Amino acid sequence: MIIKNVSLDIVCGVTSTLPENEWPEIAFAGKSNVGKSSLINALMNRKSLARTSSQPGKTQTINFYNINDCMYLVDLPGYGYAKVAQSEKEKWGKLIERYLHSSKMLRAVFLLIDIRHEPSKNDKMMYDWIVAQGYEPIIIATKLDKLKRSQVQKHVKMVRQGLSLLPGSQVIPFSAVTKQGREEIWDLMDRLIGF
Ligand code: GTP
Ligand code: MG
Repeated sequence: MIIKNVSLDIVCGVTSTLPENEWPEIAFAGKSNVGKSSLINALMNRKSLARTSSQPGKTQTINFYNINDCMYLVDLPGYGYAKVAQSEKEKWGKLIERYLHSSKMLRAVFLLIDIRHEPSKNDKMMYDWIVAQGYEPIIIATKLDKLKRSQVQKHVKMVRQGLSLLPGSQVIPFSAVTKQGREEIWDLMDRLIGF
């Protein structure tokens, strides 16, 4: 996709009514700080339209980014951040659940995993939960620039095993710093949406 215009169109908090959009949506899930907003910026060729932070828990709403008036990239709040109160976590969880459940235009869910670390219990839970909602999560292994090239294969394998992925399912290594993986993700999204 050639990016012509992007804008943050819809922001939903825990009490919001979710939109009934007419364009396809692709959502990005993953633990706090894994790089969801950074990935979305990289996909949009924007530095900071999606707000990022070294402090986990930055994105606290579901944000719909309009791409070329033909699709949405959907930035979900992160999970697993210890400092967020349990009551907040539950509210965000319910919001995400409500979204995955109710969206008629959601075409795919990408699950982001930090390539440096073994997937956590929460990552595994999120993976299984996305599957239970009827989606086959596509894994993006983030922060690729933090590894030596010689380590990449081993870590991709670790992510695969940690999530017990089926042999055919995809893991795309990505770096928001070098933008490595960006084209592959767009090619896949174009196909998923049918462009
Ligand atoms: P929440 O909104 O809190 O759920 O986090 P998020 O998943 O949206 O993460 P965000 O994009 O805000 O990134 C978190 C931190 O990781 C920021 O300091 C980013 O600069 C950094 N970061 C994100 N992606 C990469 C990457 O590919 N490489 C490196 N080196 N740092 C990254
Ligand atoms: Mg974020």
